[in-house]
Parts: sequence; C-alpha cells; structure tokens
Amino acid sequence: MKKCNLYMRFKQSQDAWSSYGSCHPDGLADGVTWIFGTGPRQTKPLDGMFNKGTNMSDQGLLNWSAIRGSNTDFNNNSRATQGGCEALDAQTLWIFAAVRALNQPHPSNVQPGRDVFAANCASCHGGAKWTKSEISHRDNPAAVAPNGAPLDPGVTRLPPATNIPPANEFFSFTCNTLPINYLEDVGTFDVDNPLEIRDNAAAGTAFGVNGFNVPSLLSINYHAPYLHRGQAQTLEEVFPLHGLGPGGVGFPPTTTIQTELTAQQQADLLVFLKSIDGTTPRFRSEGDVFRDALRLQGPCPPPTAPSVCLLGWSVRCKEARLGTEPRRCASVPTLMHSQSMVNVPTSYRRHIRAL
Ligand code: HEC
Repeated sequence: MKKCNLYMRFKQSQDAWSSYGSCHPDGLADGVTWIFGTGPRQTKPLDGMFNKGTNMSDQGLLNWSAIRGSNTDFNNNSRATQGGCEALDAQTLWIFAAVRALNQPHPSNVQPGRDVFAANCASCHGGAKWTKSEISHRDNPAAVAPNGAPLDPGVTRLPPATNIPPANEFFSFTCNTLPINYLEDVGTFDVDNPLEIRDNAAAGTAFGVNGFNVPSLLSINYHAPYLHRGQAQTLEEVFPLHGLGPGGVGFPPTTTIQTELTAQQQADLLVFLKSIDGTTPRFRSEGDVFRDALRLQGPCPPPTAPSVCLLGWSVRCKEARLGTEPRRCASVPTLMHSQSMVNVPTSYRRHIRAL
C-alpha cells in the first residue's frame, strides 16, 4: 500500500489478504469469535471507538484486554505482521469520521429501563462512547515495545504472564493520586474453560484474569454474540453470566445482573438496551467523572522526554514506514488524547466532508 487511502476496505496488508473490512464490515463487526495471542476474542464493532458528539479526541482503549493504546498503535501490527504500512492513520480518520452506529427501533416505554441502567450500568457503560474506556494518558502508543515500560509514569501495565508472548495489558492510570481502572472484572473469565486458550495452542492461559476493557453498548442490540469470547448468544443470556453487586467479581460470580435485579427490572432493562443507538441521550460514566476531576486539579506530572517527537499526521506515516514507532510530543502539559483533528491534513478534511 503506497498511499494513505481513506477507505478501510482497501489493502492493509502486503498482498491484499487482509483489510479492516475483513473483520469490520462497514466499520462494525463480523460477529465472529477469533483466536488471538491474548485468547478467544469476539470482533468489536468500531462505532463506539470515538466520542463523535462532543469531543473527537476522546478515544477508548482498544481490544478486550486493553493491549493497544489507540488505533494508531495498530501501526505495529499492520506493518510488522501484515506487511501493510500507511493505511492506519487514514483508517483512524475514517473510523471517527464515517463509521456510524446502526439505528435501533425506539419504543415509547424506555424510561423504566433507563432508570435501571442509570443506577446499575452507567458507571461503566455510560459516556458518549457507551463505555468508560478512555485514553487519558498522554502517550501514543502507551508503550513503545510490547512488555516495555509504559511511557507515561501514571500508566500501570500488568506484568507479562509466564509463557505469554509479549503484549501490553494496560491496567490503570493515575494522575496526582486520582486513579481510573482500565480493566474491570465482572466474573466472566473462567481460567479452566478449555476455550480460554491462546492461538497455536501456546502454553499459558488467555488474558482475562484481571478483567476486561469495558465494551461499548452503542447499538448493542445488533452485535450478538456477546462478551469477550461470544459466550452469550443474546442480551438475555448476558444477565446470568455478567457479575454485578457484592459477589460480582471472580469466576463464577455469585451475584449477577440476573440475581441482583428483579424480573421486572430485567425486562425493562432489555427494552432500553435494545433501543440504544447514536441518538440516545447519554449518561455520565466513571470516565467522565475522572476526566472532569483531572481538569479541575490541573496538569499531571510530565512524562519523560519522548525519543521521537511526532509532529503531525504525515510525519507519523513516514516514521511508520521507516520502522520507528513515532510518539506524540509530550509538550502539552494537561491531558492529551491521541489523534485530534488538528493533525489532519486539509486534503483529508475535504474527503471527510465528502463522505
Ligand atoms: C464494573 C463495570 C461494569 C458494570 C457496572 C457493568 N458492566 Fe457490563 N461489562 C463490563 C465488562 C468489563 C464487560 C466485558 C466482560 C467480558 O466480555 O468478559 C461487560 C460486558 C457487557 C455486555 C456485553 C457487551 C459486548 O459487546 O459483548 C453487556 C450487554 C453488558 N456488559 C451489559 C451491562 C448491563 C446491562 C449492566 C448493568 C446492569 C452492566 N453491564 C454493568 C463492565 C461492567
């Protein structure tokens, strides 16, 4: 691939054997549970990756195990594993500018379910992306090398598990004693399940014992099957598997959505869940609370000086081709998310407007 094309159905690999469109038709999901180095993983739709409403630089962490800081972080994968190169920044742009959530039917009786959601689910699944997952650390990528130390001093990465090939699993971010967890345990990881293996049947168990990156519930009605390895065929089937309340962590969870909510609350919740789409009024999540608290308290401690300073969109493309993993300049003293429209060349902006 020699040009940064804007459409992700183009090649992302050397001989066109793969593109984003292979697993994410129209930017959504193929409904398949794939096997990866981290374990069995349901394809995630990309409609909930960015906050498209109020803040386009608000991006969720990627992958079920938060092993990628951002979409640009996939440069490594596209370049090293698939032999592709420059498509990734264009894809990032396409995802935040053009991928749209599918509209859902809006019945008139969603309010009771909204109330159940506000009380029990919104802390994790609220926010503009319908997940609290948010890149709040400054660096992009969060670590230069797999299993390398995180670049931002506030990011914690779990130690590499025995026999597991290098992969980052970011766990939390702390700024001036304010912490937020990137991974949450809702009792869905059964270490003894024979399906919790990694690709090539490599030794060691799959990732998940420390929890998962909270998935987006945007247009969730359309994205069955559910949970990290597709273990629930329907939203109803999620309820007895998904921990909630005092016994909601660890496997098996002793309290779940099913045991904690009455039959009426569950029925109401289902009506609301099936109606969530890009037009649904939002809730505040723990991510929003954290971000606003950070803004009030002032700048986080600065990270150490970057080795490669990323100046802009096209520079990132060039450096990716040269084999170095470019980093954002760390000169911005407050919160800095990954990509922002400031870096987008005018020609791309014109493309976006045309989409
Ligand atoms: C403490 C944070 C937290 C809370 C609170 C929470 N969830 Fe979740 N939820 C998660 C995590 C983490 C996962 C991913 C678990 C997995 O895939 O193994 C998840 C997965 C899901 C999924 C599957 C999404 C998908 O793409 O497959 C649904 C549906 C869901 N939750 C609904 C709810 C509902 C409804 C509530 C409230 C009754 C709720 N959750 C409360 C953290 C939370």
